[in-house]
Amino acid sequence: MRIIHSIPELRAALRGQPAPSFVPTMGNLHAGHLSLIETARRRAGPVVASIFVNRLQFAPHEDFDRYPRTLERDCSALLDSGCDVVFAPSESELYPEAQTYQLHAPSSLADILEGRSRPGFFTGVCTVVLKLFHAVQPGIAVFGKKDYQQWLIVKGMVAQLNLPVEIHGAETVRDADGLALSSRNGYLSEAERREAPRLHRVLQGIARDAGGAGIGRAQLEERAMAELIEHGWQPDYVAIRRRFDLGEPLPGDPLVVLAAARLGGTRLIDNVEIARGP
Ligand code: PAJ
Repeated sequence: MRIIHSIPELRAALRGQPAPSFVPTMGNLHAGHLSLIETARRRAGPVVASIFVNRLQFAPHEDFDRYPRTLERDCSALLDSGCDVVFAPSESELYPEAQTYQLHAPSSLADILEGRSRPGFFTGVCTVVLKLFHAVQPGIAVFGKKDYQQWLIVKGMVAQLNLPVEIHGAETVRDADGLALSSRNGYLSEAERREAPRLHRVLQGIARDAGGAGIGRAQLEERAMAELIEHGWQPDYVAIRRRFDLGEPLPGDPLVVLAAARLGGTRLIDNVEIARGP
């Protein structure tokens, strides 16, 4: 496995090979990230993972400075997972000058839910993902459905800009108690870690009850918010939306319920696809 820090070196390493399968990350890797590598390995061509904590997608008050940076440990996990190339650019390699050209996803998708709570977040994500795609030139890129809105926005970007890359959505990897694996779980205290699986449980509760008669969408969302608040969470949103564009669902649309909530100082997100609508 090669660890590469510059774009010219990356291009040289990949020249003459089939188009790579690509897994972009911000590092501090866990089994969720490694499952994406596993998926990428099923394709022909080398597997490239990137590790880059992207300042552009963090608001000034967010955790950019304290975001865990564990390159050595990440590289040994990637080696064990069968990754071929780690692309770990410095900030000056990816942003040699102020990144004044940026890519804005449509407001209807990027300014709702996560985008509403984190203005500018998806502009930062799209801009860095586009730059990483240009650097790696992958045939396929794997994203986690844990970040459902991010996955949809990247798919939309690739479709509208005719980027020659296929986007694959991988299922969320969870701990045994249901908590979605996340680099930010490391911020939780012991007590918070015990409480954290509630987020997934309330979403499962909605998925279970959404098919039942007599309970509407708003009622299900409010009930979930109330349960979280009662147990010390500060929810940003619990929202039942259609999967395709996260818009207000029409009868018959396949649905997903998404949530973001703060537990102490840590903001967690999760989602569950719903089999039957309310
Ligand atoms: P990061 O949070 O490091 O996540 C990298 C990839 O791992 C994303 O596609 C994310 O959805 C996926 N992932 C995270 N937790 C997962 C889990 N429990 N199960 C399955 N997949 C999981 O997302 C980002 O980085 C950044 O926004 C990035 C796309 C790299 C752009 O900077």
